[in-house]
Amino acid sequence: MQIEFVEKSQLFCLHTGHTTMLLQAADGHLGMAYYGPSVTAQDAVSLLETKECAFTPTVMPRELANYRNAYPHAYPGYGCGDYREAALRVTAANGASAVCPLYQNYRIYDGKPELSGLPHSFGSDCRTLEITLADEPLSLTVTLRYTLFADSDVIAQSVRIDNHGTAPLMLDRAMSACLTLAGQYDMITLNGEWARERHVQRVPLHTGRQSVGSICGISSHFHNPFFALCEPETTETQGRVYGLCFVYSGNFEAVTDVDNNGSVRALMGLHPETFRWELQPDEGFQTPEVLLTCTAGGLGAMSRCYHDFMRRHLIRSPWLYRERPVLINNWEATYFDFNAEKILALADAAADCGMDLLVMDDGWFGRRNSDDSSLGDWFVHTEKLPDGIAPLGEAIRKKGLRFGIWFEPEMISPDSMLFQAHPDWAVQIPGRPLTLSRAQCVLDMTRPEIRDYLFARMCSIIREGGISYVKWDMNRRITEAFSPTLPPHRQGEFFHRYMLGVYDLMERLLEAFPDLLLEGCAGGGGRFDAGMLYYCPQIWTSDDTDAAERVKIQYGTSLCYPPSAMGAHVSASPNHTVARNSDFAARAHTALAGTFGYELDITKLSEDERAQIRAQIADYRRFSPLVREGDCYRLTNPFEDGDFAAWMFAAKDGSEILITCMQIMCRPHMPYRFLRLQGLIPDASYTDTQTGEHFSGSLLMQAGLRVPKLWGDSRSCLIHLKKD
Ligand code: GLA
Repeated sequence: MQIEFVEKSQLFCLHTGHTTMLLQAADGHLGMAYYGPSVTAQDAVSLLETKECAFTPTVMPRELANYRNAYPHAYPGYGCGDYREAALRVTAANGASAVCPLYQNYRIYDGKPELSGLPHSFGSDCRTLEITLADEPLSLTVTLRYTLFADSDVIAQSVRIDNHGTAPLMLDRAMSACLTLAGQYDMITLNGEWARERHVQRVPLHTGRQSVGSICGISSHFHNPFFALCEPETTETQGRVYGLCFVYSGNFEAVTDVDNNGSVRALMGLHPETFRWELQPDEGFQTPEVLLTCTAGGLGAMSRCYHDFMRRHLIRSPWLYRERPVLINNWEATYFDFNAEKILALADAAADCGMDLLVMDDGWFGRRNSDDSSLGDWFVHTEKLPDGIAPLGEAIRKKGLRFGIWFEPEMISPDSMLFQAHPDWAVQIPGRPLTLSRAQCVLDMTRPEIRDYLFARMCSIIREGGISYVKWDMNRRITEAFSPTLPPHRQGEFFHRYMLGVYDLMERLLEAFPDLLLEGCAGGGGRFDAGMLYYCPQIWTSDDTDAAERVKIQYGTSLCYPPSAMGAHVSASPNHTVARNSDFAARAHTALAGTFGYELDITKLSEDERAQIRAQIADYRRFSPLVREGDCYRLTNPFEDGDFAAWMFAAKDGSEILITCMQIMCRPHMPYRFLRLQGLIPDASYTDTQTGEHFSGSLLMQAGLRVPKLWGDSRSCLIHLKKD
């Protein structure tokens, strides 16, 4: 990790272990001269030459507009000659929209400042470059902040915009990061729906704009705030790939713009369609940050870089490297139909099977017997739990289990005491009908008094119940965005202020209960993003727990996020979402590639099935350190081969390997399959701990490991190798 400034060529050289980013101040502008695998700084001097390009670029004032439209701006402004997708757009008090940030000065220092109120990466061995750009007519400065980490190829970028003038300014767009790249790329995005989150899509970039994003208030099931750009020949194991991951959980846009000279601009940030922010004189605006990375080692290397980075520099929870409790969640076991006896019966069975934590899901509060009432009334449902939550917690703990609970803090049911008392707390536009979703409305999280109410109720339940785990759900998207506390011209701030409110409440909760295990959730995996990981060491990946579906969902999620953060449960067969039957072992093997738990009525299982659960939990205790701390390798791509999937986890020192093979669909006369393993020590010898067979690392990586014959659909096996 090194940041240099070469005075003569006005060149900033940012070197991580294997990558270099070169930023250059030329003709007043700041340009991205290069970003990619490591280079030495001298190579860069000519990179910003744009003269050879047919029509223009010269710095003569009469050609300035053309010059600006070809220049690889590190942070392009709108309205002064660059017609590509802008990073910044500002409207002045007179209504004019134009901004052209020019290079001013820089600062290099150890460490990384906190982004107050926002989730952000951190580290003890890191260095930051701040480059300040200024737009004099607006009296505005833009501070680009790039942080490099000693042990990572990730660069964290964020931007601060300050109004030094005497009149207010309106920020119409303030993206967090902008890259300019030469060459041809495919764009990889993670897209989906409820129960089908983060399916991988790869399409070539074409001239013009391509984008994905969210404008529904959460990062969403539809698109994820991560994208990769890779060269067309890039595979899982080789080729150049760039990643942009937004540390944010609300509306975002990921956009590329390829201009007519083939230059690629890639931006990530708050979605401009739902963002406007007023900057009063002397006020500043801090964007959330983007985690940039680049590797020549293919998609797998990019993913492992992100996994390590998030574990070391983003997830703060004390639970990060602890063995996560094996939980039983009552949702798919009982849905709303439960009472204290049923919960205790589940707890008995869970204790008998060797589980660690009982999670009481939706339905324990207010008068909630179905999904059409009581959100916001965070008081115990006295018919279901007549003795209250304290004795229930005590009884569960007596059985040797911890006690966890579900909240959906950001919601309010029209049929609730809370709504009766505070109808105006629901997000709505006066005079316009409320659009319900799952019969519920969203609370106006921008308002501190609402957060205070939620904080008080949650603290009280957590204390009374002796709760050590909270599942924080968010089951609808936002419509009719509006807050009566914001003046008309500031309504564009609603969505970002909403997210800041959610983060504030999470922060307060974790301050009050530092050891709380917080699991994020949003109608399954509708808010699985790097912003949430700052607060939640695990996030419920999807409501779809079918093994075959999960293979795809977990594969897509692993492109950016560590498997150790993926909530994964063994549920009933036939599966409640797709009605597919699958083998008990296959369900468990899929869940082993995440945080492990159960979500089915285990009181109804036979003694034989309970014995299988005990064995699965033993596997979890044995292998989970590999998932939590090791490296993840995707050995097949289920989006290309839908019949068979395999993945592996390797200890960082290559001493131990866990491989999971999953036959999703059995076919007659299946060819023998050999899995070429990755990440082993070539000249070491490995032993299969089940069969006792020995293999050299090089053989396993070059010839491959023969996959045992699996017979039937959704059949799987684990293979465990140890270095001799
Ligand atoms: C969401 C969650 C589920 C469950 C239900 C309860 O759909 O993803 O796991 O908690 O809400 O209503």
